[in-house]
Amino acid sequence: MSERKILLIIGGGVAAYKALELIRELSRRGVRSRVILTKAGAEFITPLSAASLSGDKCYTELFDLTSEAEMGHIELSRSADLVVVAPATADLMAKTANGFANDLASTTLLATDKPVMFAPAMNVRMWNHPATQRNLKTLADDGALIVGPEKGDMACGEFGYGRMAEPAAIADAVEAYFMRETEGPLKGKHVLITAGPTHEAMDPVRYIANRSSGKQGYALAEALRNLGADVTLVTGPTNLPDPAFIKTVRVETAREMLAASETALPADCAIFCAAVSDYRPSTETNQKIKKERGGLTSIEVTENPDILKAISQMSEGRPRLVIGFAAETQDVVCYAEAKRKRKGCDWIVANDVSPGDNVVSGGVMGGDRNAVILITENGEEAWPDMPKTEVARRLAERIAKTLGGPHLVKAAE
Ligand code: CTP
Repeated sequence: MSERKILLIIGGGVAAYKALELIRELSRRGVRSRVILTKAGAEFITPLSAASLSGDKCYTELFDLTSEAEMGHIELSRSADLVVVAPATADLMAKTANGFANDLASTTLLATDKPVMFAPAMNVRMWNHPATQRNLKTLADDGALIVGPEKGDMACGEFGYGRMAEPAAIADAVEAYFMRETEGPLKGKHVLITAGPTHEAMDPVRYIANRSSGKQGYALAEALRNLGADVTLVTGPTNLPDPAFIKTVRVETAREMLAASETALPADCAIFCAAVSDYRPSTETNQKIKKERGGLTSIEVTENPDILKAISQMSEGRPRLVIGFAAETQDVVCYAEAKRKRKGCDWIVANDVSPGDNVVSGGVMGGDRNAVILITENGEEAWPDMPKTEVARRLAERIAKTLGGPHLVKAAE
């Protein structure tokens, strides 16, 4: 593969120091950065640091005649495969969204014919301001890629959305962009994945939920994307950011998850990783349930739709490969195989979530590791304990192999 190059525009925010780490992280991954540092950015870091880390000249001014003679801003804007703006300040986003061109960074952003990725970083109030949200929408509508921001403590002492995504996460998004440009075995295939828990409301403040973190489903979505698939991730409430280049649909309840999954079809493969609540409170009141009025002595529940079963048993338009997950505490294989047949899916990925002798016991939900047993129509296969990202990678490869092969089982009668 030829050398991958980005043009990194560093805006004026405290997070500018993290852009230096981004240059290093990208270079470790074989991606070269050429840097434009805005005037405000140069208040936070020096052109010399950026030049030393990138191994190239750091560009700072539009009317620098020497630079224009060496490389004009038009050529600069086209010299890379991707333009990354990090930190993308509210000002830089506003300028780009409105086509302003009064310095090197904004002129380059207007002149480029390459995709642009923004990693926003600003105070939470600035981020939430309708003007910034409007600009964000304009940029996204114009085709810009957005990474972050994340929620957390800010340098200004406030808390909320606005913190720039970590350099590793931006580098992941850059790598994912380049991976999508190359031919992967799942290129042209659409995969639907459900992930995370569901929240089933009782009243405006209380809900039934579970401990699912969404990590396994998100890791799987990323692994499939890395093999070239178009991925739709339908997720319940999680603390994880939307993964880059994955269509992420956020829902709360099982019924919303079913509707969003059906809307996402057709798909070549559907994977049901979500820990869907089997039940929801039969009634949801608009007012908070009060102790004085008898309060909550019992909760009457109604069964939720089974999304895996509904899609496995579709008579028309069923995805070629439907995969379910099964968390069991005893007779794992036996119960999981019975579940595969009962629901009508092709594969079940089973794991033991009982506290006890399993290496990862008790830690699967919310943890980073998993030991699974893959159950297909051809039997069972126990995989050793490994990180969830590795389970995802292996599973994605199996899926790619299977979807590349002859047609599979049809819908259950
Ligand atoms: N699932 C689903 N919709 C539901 C319940 C489960 O899509 N309403 C999916 C999960 O995403 C997962 C699999 O079904 O892929 C897990 O099934 P599980 O809830 O364990 O199966 P049950 O039939 O409810 O069996 P049990 O609770 O008795 O183990």
